[in-house]
Amino acid sequence: MDTALAVVFLSPLLLLLVAAETPVYGLYETCVVSQLSGNQNPFNYTEVVTQGLFSGPDGNTTVDGFYYQAYERSNVGGSEKLTPDGSPQWCVRYSPSSPGSFDMTFIITNSSGTFTLKTDSFEASDDKLAGFIKLGSNQVHFQYANKSTYYPVGENVCWVGEGQGTYGYDDYFGKLAANGGNYARLWLTDRAWDDLTVEVKLGNMSLDDTWRLDYVVQLAEKLDIHLLMCTESYNNFCTVSDVICTWDLSYYNVANGGFLTKPSEFFVDERAKADYKNRLRYIVARYGYSTSVFAWEFFNEVSTTLHEFFVVFNLFSYTKAESSIGKFIEVVKTQCIC
Ligand SMILES: *[C@@H]1O[C@H](CO)[C@@H](O)[C@H](O)[C@H]1NC(C)=O
Ligand SMILES: *[C@@H]1O[C@H](CO)[C@@H](O)[C@H](O)[C@H]1NC(C)=O
Ligand SMILES: *[C@@H]1O[C@H](CO)[C@@H](O)[C@H](O)[C@H]1NC(C)=O
Ligand SMILES: *[C@@H]1O[C@H](CO)[C@@H](O)[C@H](O)[C@H]1NC(C)=O
Ligand SMILES: *[C@@H]1O[C@H](CO)[C@@H](O)[C@H](O)[C@H]1NC(C)=O
Repeated sequence: MDTALAVVFLSPLLLLLVAAETPVYGLYETCVVSQLSGNQNPFNYTEVVTQGLFSGPDGNTTVDGFYYQAYERSNVGGSEKLTPDGSPQWCVRYSPSSPGSFDMTFIITNSSGTFTLKTDSFEASDDKLAGFIKLGSNQVHFQYANKSTYYPVGENVCWVGEGQGTYGYDDYFGKLAANGGNYARLWLTDRAWDDLTVEVKLGNMSLDDTWRLDYVVQLAEKLDIHLLMCTESYNNFCTVSDVICTWDLSYYNVANGGFLTKPSEFFVDERAKADYKNRLRYIVARYGYSTSVFAWEFFNEVSTTLHEFFVVFNLFSYTKAESSIGKFIEVVKTQCIC
Protein backbone atom coordinates (compact mmCIF):
# COMPACT_ATOMS: atom_id res chain seq x y z
CA MET A 1 0.00 0.00 0.00
CA ASP A 2 2.70 2.50 1.02
CA THR A 3 4.81 1.61 -2.00
CA ALA A 4 1.88 2.08 -4.38
CA LEU A 5 1.16 5.55 -2.93
CA ALA A 6 4.80 6.57 -3.15
CA VAL A 7 4.92 5.65 -6.83
CA VAL A 8 1.80 7.67 -7.58
CA PHE A 9 3.37 10.83 -6.14
CA LEU A 10 6.78 10.46 -7.85
CA SER A 11 6.89 12.40 -11.09
CA PRO A 12 7.72 10.39 -14.23
CA LEU A 13 10.80 12.61 -14.76
CA LEU A 14 12.16 11.73 -11.31
CA LEU A 15 11.65 8.01 -11.99
CA LEU A 16 13.53 8.46 -15.25
CA LEU A 17 16.43 10.22 -13.52
CA VAL A 18 16.64 7.56 -10.81
CA ALA A 19 16.71 4.78 -13.42
CA ALA A 20 19.37 6.48 -15.55
CA GLU A 21 22.12 6.61 -12.88
CA THR A 22 24.78 3.87 -12.79
CA PRO A 23 27.60 3.76 -10.22
CA VAL A 24 31.16 3.61 -11.51
CA TYR A 25 32.03 -0.15 -11.44
CA GLY A 26 28.30 -0.94 -11.19
CA LEU A 27 26.05 -2.41 -13.87
CA TYR A 28 24.52 -0.57 -16.80
CA GLU A 29 22.19 -2.93 -18.68
CA THR A 30 19.73 -2.46 -21.49
CA CYS A 31 17.62 -5.05 -23.33
CA VAL A 32 15.39 -5.21 -26.40
CA VAL A 33 12.88 -7.98 -27.16
CA SER A 34 14.45 -10.09 -29.91
CA GLN A 35 12.74 -10.69 -33.21
CA LEU A 36 14.55 -13.55 -34.87
CA SER A 37 13.77 -14.36 -38.46
CA GLY A 38 15.23 -17.12 -40.60
CA ASN A 39 17.04 -19.99 -38.88
CA GLN A 40 19.95 -18.04 -37.40
CA ASN A 41 21.35 -19.32 -34.11
CA PRO A 42 21.13 -16.42 -31.61
CA PHE A 43 24.11 -17.85 -29.70
CA ASN A 44 26.42 -17.94 -32.71
CA TYR A 45 28.31 -14.65 -33.00
CA THR A 46 29.26 -15.49 -36.59
CA GLU A 47 25.60 -15.52 -37.63
CA VAL A 48 24.20 -12.70 -35.51
CA VAL A 49 25.98 -10.28 -33.19
CA THR A 50 24.60 -7.52 -31.00
CA GLN A 51 26.95 -4.87 -29.65
CA GLY A 52 26.78 -1.82 -27.40
CA LEU A 53 28.83 1.15 -28.59
CA PHE A 54 29.61 3.23 -25.50
CA SER A 55 31.01 6.72 -25.68
CA GLY A 56 31.90 8.78 -22.60
CA PRO A 57 34.72 9.54 -20.16
CA ASP A 58 36.08 5.96 -20.59
CA GLY A 59 36.59 6.74 -24.30
CA ASN A 60 34.79 4.73 -26.97
CA THR A 61 34.23 1.09 -26.08
CA THR A 62 32.44 -1.69 -27.96
CA VAL A 63 30.93 -4.48 -25.84
CA ASP A 64 29.23 -7.63 -27.15
CA GLY A 65 25.58 -8.22 -26.28
CA PHE A 66 23.98 -11.62 -25.66
CA TYR A 67 20.73 -13.54 -26.01
CA TYR A 68 18.75 -13.66 -22.76
CA GLN A 69 15.62 -15.14 -21.20
CA ALA A 70 14.34 -14.06 -17.77
CA TYR A 71 12.94 -16.66 -15.33
CA GLU A 72 11.05 -16.82 -12.06
CA ARG A 73 12.41 -19.38 -9.63
CA SER A 74 10.40 -21.45 -7.16
CA ASN A 75 11.24 -24.11 -4.61
CA VAL A 76 9.26 -27.29 -5.28
CA GLY A 77 9.91 -29.80 -2.53
CA GLY A 78 13.56 -28.83 -2.19
CA SER A 79 14.19 -28.64 -5.96
CA GLU A 80 14.46 -25.46 -7.96
CA LYS A 81 11.94 -24.90 -10.75
CA LEU A 82 12.46 -22.12 -13.31
CA THR A 83 9.55 -20.68 -15.26
CA PRO A 84 10.20 -18.35 -18.24
CA ASP A 85 9.21 -14.73 -17.54
CA GLY A 86 8.43 -12.80 -20.74
CA SER A 87 10.03 -13.16 -24.18
CA PRO A 88 13.71 -13.70 -25.06
CA GLN A 89 15.70 -10.49 -25.39
CA TRP A 90 18.97 -9.11 -26.65
CA CYS A 91 20.85 -7.48 -23.77
CA VAL A 92 24.10 -5.61 -23.28
CA ARG A 93 25.95 -4.98 -20.01
CA TYR A 94 28.63 -2.44 -19.27
CA SER A 95 30.51 -1.29 -16.21
CA PRO A 96 31.71 2.32 -16.44
CA SER A 97 35.22 3.01 -15.11
CA SER A 98 34.87 6.80 -14.81
CA PRO A 99 32.10 9.17 -13.67
CA GLY A 100 30.28 11.33 -16.22
CA SER A 101 27.82 11.17 -19.11
CA PHE A 102 27.69 8.19 -21.45
CA ASP A 103 25.92 7.67 -24.77
CA MET A 104 25.08 4.18 -25.91
CA THR A 105 24.01 2.75 -29.27
CA PHE A 106 22.85 -0.87 -29.29
CA ILE A 107 23.34 -2.45 -32.73
CA ILE A 108 22.63 -5.80 -34.35
CA THR A 109 24.46 -7.26 -37.33
CA ASN A 110 22.85 -10.21 -39.11
CA SER A 111 22.67 -11.52 -42.68
CA SER A 112 20.49 -8.51 -43.67
CA GLY A 113 22.98 -5.86 -42.49
CA THR A 114 23.60 -3.71 -39.40
CA PHE A 115 20.68 -2.04 -37.60
CA THR A 116 20.29 0.15 -34.52
CA LEU A 117 18.11 -1.54 -31.91
CA LYS A 118 18.16 1.32 -29.39
CA THR A 119 20.04 4.43 -28.26
CA ASP A 120 20.33 5.63 -24.66
CA SER A 121 22.23 7.98 -22.34
CA PHE A 122 23.12 7.56 -18.69
CA GLU A 123 25.14 9.19 -15.92
CA ALA A 124 27.87 7.28 -14.10
CA SER A 125 28.15 8.42 -10.48
CA ASP A 126 31.22 8.04 -8.25
CA ASP A 127 29.90 5.85 -5.43
CA LYS A 128 33.43 4.89 -4.28
CA LEU A 129 32.97 1.21 -5.10
CA ALA A 130 36.14 -0.87 -4.75
CA GLY A 131 36.31 -1.81 -8.45
CA PHE A 132 37.92 -4.66 -10.35
CA ILE A 133 40.62 -6.78 -8.75
CA LYS A 134 43.91 -6.98 -10.59
CA LEU A 135 47.47 -7.98 -9.84
CA GLY A 136 49.17 -5.38 -7.66
CA SER A 137 52.22 -3.49 -8.85
CA ASN A 138 54.47 -5.99 -7.00
CA GLN A 139 53.04 -8.74 -9.30
CA VAL A 140 52.45 -10.90 -6.21
CA HIS A 141 49.38 -9.63 -4.38
CA PHE A 142 45.93 -8.81 -5.67
CA GLN A 143 44.44 -5.38 -5.30
CA TYR A 144 41.14 -3.63 -5.96
CA ALA A 145 41.03 -0.65 -8.32
CA ASN A 146 40.89 1.50 -5.15
CA LYS A 147 44.40 0.12 -4.29
CA SER A 148 43.32 -1.86 -1.21
CA THR A 149 44.70 -5.40 -1.00
CA TYR A 150 42.42 -8.33 -1.82
CA TYR A 151 43.40 -11.54 -0.05
CA PRO A 152 41.18 -14.43 -1.23
CA VAL A 153 39.79 -16.69 1.50
CA GLY A 154 37.18 -19.23 0.49
CA GLU A 155 36.14 -22.47 -1.10
CA ASN A 156 35.89 -24.49 -4.25
CA VAL A 157 32.09 -24.53 -4.88
CA CYS A 158 31.99 -26.63 -8.10
CA TRP A 159 28.50 -27.82 -7.36
CA VAL A 160 25.75 -27.75 -4.77
CA GLY A 161 23.18 -30.40 -3.78
CA GLU A 162 21.44 -32.06 -6.74
CA GLY A 163 18.46 -30.09 -8.02
CA GLN A 164 18.95 -27.24 -5.53
CA GLY A 165 19.99 -24.77 -8.23
CA THR A 166 20.37 -21.19 -7.02
CA TYR A 167 18.85 -22.09 -3.62
CA GLY A 168 21.95 -24.17 -2.99
CA TYR A 169 24.15 -21.12 -3.65
CA ASP A 170 22.03 -19.01 -1.26
CA ASP A 171 22.91 -21.59 1.38
CA TYR A 172 26.62 -22.08 0.57
CA PHE A 173 27.48 -18.43 -0.17
CA GLY A 174 25.43 -17.18 2.80
CA LYS A 175 27.45 -19.40 5.15
CA LEU A 176 30.72 -18.60 3.40
CA ALA A 177 30.20 -14.83 3.82
CA ALA A 178 28.93 -15.20 7.41
CA ASN A 179 32.23 -16.92 8.26
CA GLY A 180 34.45 -14.29 6.67
CA GLY A 181 34.88 -15.90 3.21
CA ASN A 182 35.33 -13.62 0.20
CA TYR A 183 36.20 -16.10 -2.58
CA ALA A 184 34.59 -19.05 -4.42
CA ARG A 185 35.44 -21.15 -7.46
CA LEU A 186 32.65 -22.09 -9.89
CA TRP A 187 32.40 -24.59 -12.75
CA LEU A 188 30.60 -23.43 -15.89
CA THR A 189 31.03 -26.66 -17.72
CA ASP A 190 29.59 -29.94 -16.55
CA ARG A 191 25.86 -30.55 -16.62
CA ALA A 192 26.23 -33.87 -14.86
CA TRP A 193 27.47 -32.10 -11.75
CA ASP A 194 26.32 -28.51 -11.68
CA ASP A 195 23.49 -26.21 -12.74
CA LEU A 196 25.69 -23.50 -14.22
CA THR A 197 26.65 -25.13 -17.53
CA VAL A 198 26.86 -22.49 -20.24
CA GLU A 199 27.11 -24.47 -23.50
CA VAL A 200 24.83 -27.51 -23.46
CA LYS A 201 24.77 -28.40 -27.15
CA LEU A 202 27.20 -27.57 -29.91
CA GLY A 203 26.91 -23.78 -30.29
CA ASN A 204 23.78 -23.70 -28.11
CA MET A 205 23.89 -22.06 -24.66
CA SER A 206 21.54 -22.93 -21.83
CA LEU A 207 19.20 -20.00 -21.16
CA ASP A 208 18.17 -21.35 -17.76
CA ASP A 209 21.66 -22.21 -16.50
CA THR A 210 23.02 -18.84 -17.65
CA TRP A 211 20.14 -17.17 -15.78
CA ARG A 212 21.19 -19.15 -12.70
CA LEU A 213 24.73 -17.90 -13.19
CA ASP A 214 23.43 -14.31 -13.34
CA TYR A 215 21.76 -14.96 -10.00
CA VAL A 216 24.93 -16.43 -8.49
CA VAL A 217 27.10 -13.53 -9.74
CA GLN A 218 24.64 -10.99 -8.30
CA LEU A 219 24.52 -12.91 -5.02
CA ALA A 220 28.34 -12.79 -4.92
CA GLU A 221 28.20 -9.02 -5.53
CA LYS A 222 25.86 -8.56 -2.55
CA LEU A 223 28.01 -10.73 -0.26
CA ASP A 224 31.41 -9.36 -1.40
CA ILE A 225 32.45 -12.77 -2.70
CA HIS A 226 34.83 -12.85 -5.69
CA LEU A 227 34.57 -15.65 -8.20
CA LEU A 228 37.02 -17.75 -10.13
CA MET A 229 35.12 -18.99 -13.19
CA CYS A 230 36.37 -22.30 -14.57
CA THR A 231 35.20 -22.73 -18.16
CA GLU A 232 36.18 -26.31 -19.04
CA SER A 233 37.10 -29.61 -17.39
CA TYR A 234 38.99 -32.75 -18.38
CA ASN A 235 35.88 -34.89 -17.71
CA ASN A 236 34.35 -33.85 -21.02
CA PHE A 237 37.46 -35.01 -22.86
CA CYS A 238 38.64 -38.20 -21.20
CA THR A 239 37.97 -41.79 -22.17
CA VAL A 240 40.07 -44.00 -19.92
CA SER A 241 40.74 -42.91 -16.41
CA ASP A 242 40.07 -43.78 -12.81
CA VAL A 243 37.81 -40.72 -12.64
CA ILE A 244 34.49 -39.78 -14.21
CA CYS A 245 34.83 -39.48 -17.99
CA THR A 246 32.07 -38.20 -20.25
CA TRP A 247 33.64 -38.07 -23.72
CA ASP A 248 30.89 -40.50 -24.81
CA LEU A 249 28.34 -37.75 -24.13
CA SER A 250 30.35 -34.84 -25.57
CA TYR A 251 28.75 -32.70 -28.25
CA TYR A 252 32.15 -32.47 -29.93
CA ASN A 253 32.19 -36.27 -30.39
CA VAL A 254 31.28 -37.43 -33.96
CA ALA A 255 29.14 -40.10 -32.33
CA ASN A 256 26.86 -37.29 -31.07
CA GLY A 257 26.80 -35.20 -34.26
CA GLY A 258 30.03 -33.31 -33.47
CA PHE A 259 33.23 -33.32 -35.50
CA LEU A 260 35.99 -34.75 -33.29
CA THR A 261 37.01 -38.41 -33.45
CA LYS A 262 39.22 -38.18 -30.34
CA PRO A 263 39.43 -35.74 -27.42
CA SER A 264 42.89 -34.30 -28.13
CA GLU A 265 41.61 -32.87 -31.44
CA PHE A 266 39.84 -30.26 -29.31
CA PHE A 267 43.10 -28.34 -29.08
CA VAL A 268 43.86 -28.24 -32.79
CA ASP A 269 40.60 -28.54 -34.72
CA GLU A 270 39.60 -25.15 -36.14
CA ARG A 271 35.85 -25.82 -35.66
CA ALA A 272 36.38 -26.75 -32.01
CA LYS A 273 38.49 -23.65 -31.42
CA ALA A 274 35.86 -21.47 -33.10
CA ASP A 275 33.09 -23.01 -31.01
CA TYR A 276 35.05 -22.57 -27.79
CA LYS A 277 35.90 -18.95 -28.57
CA ASN A 278 32.21 -18.37 -29.31
CA ARG A 279 31.35 -19.78 -25.87
CA LEU A 280 33.94 -17.54 -24.17
CA ARG A 281 32.57 -14.56 -26.07
CA TYR A 282 29.09 -15.27 -24.68
CA ILE A 283 30.44 -15.71 -21.14
CA VAL A 284 32.43 -12.47 -21.27
CA ALA A 285 29.50 -10.53 -22.77
CA ARG A 286 27.20 -11.70 -19.98
CA TYR A 287 29.41 -11.75 -16.86
CA GLY A 288 32.51 -9.71 -17.75
CA TYR A 289 30.87 -6.57 -16.37
CA SER A 290 30.93 -7.77 -12.78
CA THR A 291 33.57 -6.77 -10.25
CA SER A 292 32.69 -10.07 -8.54
CA VAL A 293 34.30 -11.96 -11.41
CA PHE A 294 37.84 -12.05 -10.11
CA ALA A 295 39.61 -14.59 -12.32
CA TRP A 296 39.14 -17.10 -15.14
CA GLU A 297 40.39 -20.66 -15.15
CA PHE A 298 40.46 -22.16 -18.59
CA PHE A 299 40.73 -25.84 -17.80
CA ASN A 300 40.20 -27.88 -14.66
CA GLU A 301 42.84 -30.58 -14.07
CA VAL A 302 43.77 -30.59 -17.74
CA SER A 303 46.74 -32.88 -17.24
CA THR A 304 44.65 -35.65 -15.69
CA THR A 305 44.10 -37.22 -19.08
CA LEU A 306 45.39 -34.71 -21.62
CA HIS A 307 49.03 -33.83 -21.87
CA GLU A 308 48.79 -31.02 -24.34
CA PHE A 309 47.88 -28.29 -21.92
CA PHE A 310 50.51 -25.90 -23.22
CA VAL A 311 48.37 -25.50 -26.35
CA VAL A 312 45.63 -24.15 -24.15
CA PHE A 313 47.59 -21.02 -23.47
CA ASN A 314 47.76 -20.25 -27.19
CA LEU A 315 44.04 -20.74 -27.47
CA PHE A 316 43.38 -18.37 -24.63
CA SER A 317 45.64 -15.58 -25.66
CA TYR A 318 42.66 -14.72 -27.87
CA THR A 319 40.46 -13.81 -24.95
CA LYS A 320 42.56 -11.03 -23.52
CA ALA A 321 43.63 -9.54 -26.80
CA GLU A 322 40.45 -9.63 -28.81
CA SER A 323 37.54 -9.21 -26.46
CA SER A 324 36.38 -6.88 -23.75
CA ILE A 325 37.72 -9.31 -21.13
CA GLY A 326 41.10 -7.60 -21.52
CA LYS A 327 39.69 -4.32 -20.34
CA PHE A 328 38.70 -5.72 -16.98
CA ILE A 329 40.22 -9.03 -16.07
CA GLU A 330 43.92 -9.75 -15.82
CA VAL A 331 43.95 -12.88 -13.73
CA VAL A 332 43.85 -16.12 -15.72
CA LYS A 333 45.09 -19.58 -14.85
CA THR A 334 44.96 -23.17 -15.97
CA GLN A 335 45.12 -25.94 -13.40
CA CYS A 336 47.02 -29.14 -13.89
CA ILE A 337 47.65 -32.07 -11.59
CA CYS A 338 51.34 -32.77 -11.98
C1 LIG B 1 18.20 -8.50 -38.83
O1 LIG B 1 17.84 -7.64 -37.74
C2 LIG B 1 16.86 -6.68 -38.08
C3 LIG B 1 16.68 -5.76 -36.86
O2 LIG B 1 16.25 -6.51 -35.74
C4 LIG B 1 15.56 -7.40 -38.46
O3 LIG B 1 14.59 -6.46 -38.85
C5 LIG B 1 15.85 -8.36 -39.60
O4 LIG B 1 14.69 -9.13 -39.85
C6 LIG B 1 16.98 -9.30 -39.24
N1 LIG B 1 17.32 -10.14 -40.37
C7 LIG B 1 17.33 -11.46 -40.26
C8 LIG B 1 17.71 -12.24 -41.45
O5 LIG B 1 17.04 -12.01 -39.21
C1 LIG C 1 18.95 -25.01 -28.33
O1 LIG C 1 18.42 -26.15 -27.67
C2 LIG C 1 17.08 -26.01 -27.28
C3 LIG C 1 16.71 -27.22 -26.44
O2 LIG C 1 16.85 -28.40 -27.18
C4 LIG C 1 16.20 -25.87 -28.50
O3 LIG C 1 14.87 -25.68 -28.10
C5 LIG C 1 16.68 -24.65 -29.28
O4 LIG C 1 15.95 -24.57 -30.49
C6 LIG C 1 18.15 -24.74 -29.58
N1 LIG C 1 18.55 -23.47 -30.13
C7 LIG C 1 19.37 -23.39 -31.13
C8 LIG C 1 19.67 -22.01 -31.58
O5 LIG C 1 19.85 -24.37 -31.66
C1 LIG D 1 33.53 8.20 -30.20
O1 LIG D 1 32.17 8.00 -30.50
C2 LIG D 1 31.48 9.20 -30.79
C3 LIG D 1 30.01 8.88 -30.88
O2 LIG D 1 29.78 7.76 -31.69
C4 LIG D 1 32.05 9.81 -32.08
O3 LIG D 1 31.39 11.03 -32.35
C5 LIG D 1 33.55 10.08 -31.86
O4 LIG D 1 34.11 10.50 -33.08
C6 LIG D 1 34.26 8.82 -31.39
N1 LIG D 1 35.61 9.17 -31.00
C7 LIG D 1 36.68 8.47 -31.38
C8 LIG D 1 38.01 8.95 -30.86
O5 LIG D 1 36.60 7.51 -32.11
C1 LIG E 1 38.54 -0.35 -1.11
O1 LIG E 1 37.57 -1.40 -1.18
C2 LIG E 1 37.71 -2.36 -0.15
C3 LIG E 1 36.75 -3.52 -0.46
O2 LIG E 1 35.42 -3.07 -0.54
C4 LIG E 1 37.44 -1.72 1.19
O3 LIG E 1 37.59 -2.67 2.23
C5 LIG E 1 38.44 -0.59 1.39
O4 LIG E 1 38.14 0.12 2.58
C6 LIG E 1 38.43 0.38 0.21
N1 LIG E 1 39.56 1.29 0.35
C7 LIG E 1 39.48 2.60 0.14
C8 LIG E 1 40.76 3.34 0.26
O5 LIG E 1 38.41 3.14 -0.14
C1 LIG F 1 28.29 -20.61 -36.42
O1 LIG F 1 27.88 -20.07 -37.64
C2 LIG F 1 28.79 -20.28 -38.71
C3 LIG F 1 28.22 -19.56 -39.92
O2 LIG F 1 26.92 -20.00 -40.18
C4 LIG F 1 28.95 -21.78 -38.94
O3 LIG F 1 29.92 -22.00 -39.95
C5 LIG F 1 29.41 -22.46 -37.65
O4 LIG F 1 29.46 -23.85 -37.83
C6 LIG F 1 28.47 -22.13 -36.52
N1 LIG F 1 29.01 -22.66 -35.29
C7 LIG F 1 28.37 -23.53 -34.54
C8 LIG F 1 29.09 -24.04 -33.34
O5 LIG F 1 27.24 -23.92 -34.81
